[in-house]
Amino acid sequence: MKIVCIGGGPAGLYFALLMKKRGAHHDITVVERNKPYDTFGWGVVFSDQTMGHMRHWDAETAQEIQQAFNHWDDIELHFKGRVIRSGGHGFVGIGRKKMLNILQARCEVLGVKLLFEQDATSDLDFPDADLVIASDGINSNVRNRCPEIFKPDIVTRPNRFIWLGTHKQYDAFTFLFEKTEHGWFQAHIYKFDGLTSTFIVECPEEVWLAHGLDQADQAESIAFCEKVFADNLKGERLMTNARHLRGSAWLNFQRVKCEKWSFFNGKSHVVLMGDAVHTAHFAIGSGTKLALEDAIELVRQFQETGDEVVHIPQVLEQYQALRAIDVIRLQNAAWNAMEWFEVCGKRYCDQLAPEQFMYSMLTRSQRISHENLRLRDKQWLEGYERWFAGQAQAVPPMFTPYRLRGITLKNRVVVSPMAQYKCTDGRVGDYHLMHLGARAMGGASLVFAEMTCVSPEARITPGCPGLWNDEQTSDWARIVAWVHQETDAKMALQIGHAGPKGSTCAPWQGAGADQPLPDANWPLLSASAKPYLQDGQVPRAMTREDMDHVKNDFIRATQRASKAGFDWLELHCAHGYLLSSFISPLTNQRQDDYGGSLENRLRYPLEVFAAVRAAWPDHLPMSVRISAHDWVEGGITPMDATEVARAFKLAGADMIDCSSGQVSAQQKPIYGRMYQTPFADRIRQEVGIATLAVGAISEADHVNSIIAAGRADLCAVARPHLANPAWTMTEAARIGYTALQWPSPYASGQPQLEATFARERSLQLAGRGD
Ligand SMILES: Cc1cc2nc3c(=O)[nH]c(=O)nc-3n(C[C@H](O)[C@H](O)[C@H](O)COP(=O)(O)OP(=O)(O)OC[C@H]3O[C@@H](n4cnc5c(N)ncnc54)[C@H](O)[C@@H]3O)c2cc1C
Ligand SMILES: Cc1cc2nc3c(=O)[nH]c(=O)nc-3n(C[C@H](O)[C@H](O)[C@H](O)COP(=O)(O)O)c2cc1C
Repeated sequence: MKIVCIGGGPAGLYFALLMKKRGAHHDITVVERNKPYDTFGWGVVFSDQTMGHMRHWDAETAQEIQQAFNHWDDIELHFKGRVIRSGGHGFVGIGRKKMLNILQARCEVLGVKLLFEQDATSDLDFPDADLVIASDGINSNVRNRCPEIFKPDIVTRPNRFIWLGTHKQYDAFTFLFEKTEHGWFQAHIYKFDGLTSTFIVECPEEVWLAHGLDQADQAESIAFCEKVFADNLKGERLMTNARHLRGSAWLNFQRVKCEKWSFFNGKSHVVLMGDAVHTAHFAIGSGTKLALEDAIELVRQFQETGDEVVHIPQVLEQYQALRAIDVIRLQNAAWNAMEWFEVCGKRYCDQLAPEQFMYSMLTRSQRISHENLRLRDKQWLEGYERWFAGQAQAVPPMFTPYRLRGITLKNRVVVSPMAQYKCTDGRVGDYHLMHLGARAMGGASLVFAEMTCVSPEARITPGCPGLWNDEQTSDWARIVAWVHQETDAKMALQIGHAGPKGSTCAPWQGAGADQPLPDANWPLLSASAKPYLQDGQVPRAMTREDMDHVKNDFIRATQRASKAGFDWLELHCAHGYLLSSFISPLTNQRQDDYGGSLENRLRYPLEVFAAVRAAWPDHLPMSVRISAHDWVEGGITPMDATEVARAFKLAGADMIDCSSGQVSAQQKPIYGRMYQTPFADRIRQEVGIATLAVGAISEADHVNSIIAAGRADLCAVARPHLANPAWTMTEAARIGYTALQWPSPYASGQPQLEATFARERSLQLAGRGD
């Protein structure tokens, strides 16, 4: 085969040498626009795992790279005059120049032709090649020539960064944060040879502009960075080797991904590789790893399928199918890490104490969890747990108490409200006593009853509970009293009005959830006369009279909730129900004072909140559940959600319960573990109100990392509590936390379960060879 690699970066060189090694008869050329041994950038990092793959595929290069490696374990944070260090992180760093030199030399030994100082205009420059590898980097000419084929999706991120080097010695992966008069700057620093460290400086665009760095040339930019980090640099200089960049050396990161990775240009098969097809932000340090692993996978496919020209189409198809999965996984983790650095100046630097800031930074990609940190550096983590708990004993953050108004919760786990549709005439009975009682015995600190409706017309289905008469009040009082008598859990009530989503079937009845009842429908109310489903029942747009009427229903239900003995009240302003229908522009199309701007759309929900708050005892907390993202273009965004939260905070809410969606049937949510937690985090930091995180929180490890990082104050767990009422007790035993108090009659089950999990943990450790 005749192969041309356009671009002699890690991807092009490594593919060329592996393929040549596989078959010396292949005619392989690497075309590089730079001079030999001349490149941009400083050191790059990658993991031991990538090294393992390289050893397998070409032991010679791996050995040379390994000899040139700098290995280090610690991460060190310099923040607000403090230095915090944690270990066990295991990185290796190498100079980009050094690595390319090794790859170039190995290519020469194996007989790969290296053509330097040749600028390829496109893949069409090489019509006699069977295969063209477009390893021409982030600004790939080949990709840019055929956007309709590769369908690239390129997102330019808002932060500015400059890639510098220094001879100051650092013995840990070091992060510096410095506040200037216009905002925060951060530096990411890692050593890559005996003398030199990479020193990347990053800041938000507005901070960069405010300092006039858009007008600064390279020398001025370097002088500026030296001044910002002078305390740490202590007279050492910063250096650039990006002389090839014209004007400013400050870049914006571009996230690249492509729908298609290869095509036939009429003469040759063409395939994208490395940064040309995907990029990963430097916050996760994996661009080189991806480039090298692309090269390995393509060679593996030739090995498995055959390396004749006829095999190329199948090989290229399999190459994309396999690599795309790994790339997406890494890009998602890199995205979280990148976003953390983009928002840290606004969201974390001024808000968090250095200890918690460090924890938040270490877990920024959401791939490193609490227990993972324990494996890396037990001593540091236990020190953090002691700091978080404010006591001499280390306690997992999930099991620290939490106080709000006059209530103290014994831990941070909440049973999320879950509709059961098991009532008749809005009355709860033995079913609910069993259901809620079991969960109250299961270890959670706060148990939410399902959405309870303020009038018969406020119900979602005929099976929903209500709180509009005395019988219902005493039914609830019986359940609350039982929970208070038999457990140390607190009871919360979520009150709501179904609005446009009322008069529908239970999920397992008739046409199913959200579908109108076949008969005996009741009239519906909403902000506007817009049905939830296209062919659903059309609600009436509320008049002012309706608003007064419904508000009074909320007040009376609140008084009854207090009488029934509930400890906590939540106002349901989410999921497309009545109050939510006012907040979202998708459901509120009113022309009066209650529609239009967000301020107007919030007017009625805030009026109801104020009335309910006034009717609810002062010493008891009130939360508000919102949909922090409608997941529909033109709907509520997480940024709007911060304004919604701010308004409820001003009105006296104690906590925002951050759910999302269910406002429009057109929604396209992006699910994943803890997928709504970023909304709780953002609201907590930017608005300064306590938050309740919910959604795909299914392990103690999730709860611990959310609470420890300060992303939320409490975690609500719904579906896992359907499978296991004693979810909290089970998770405590799973992570080896034995101080949780089980209900006395259940006490003999505790050591037994703890022993089972202890055995599982030791088997896992043995399996891992630790
Ligand atoms: C600030 C910063 C820090 C980074 N830190 C890390 C890190 O710590 N760890 C890590 O793994 N990665 C890091 N990266 C990413 C890493 O540099 C890239 O992901 C990696 O180099 C991609 O390899 P590549 O071979 O695909 O592309 P490149 O390394 O960009 O190589 C492309 C080559 O193609 C050549 N070329 C382009 N067009 C043509 C043409 N028309 N004709 C001829 N030649 C051409 C270029 O000169 C270049 O040599 C960082 C990137 C940046 C910007
Ligand atoms: C069966 C069921 C019923 C639910 N009923 C309610 C409800 O009454 N009120 C509410 O705000 N959310 C309700 N939800 C949403 C949950 O409270 C929670 O936000 C959601 O299930 C995500 O959490 P999870 O991933 O832990 O299940 C319900 C969820 C389920 C599974």
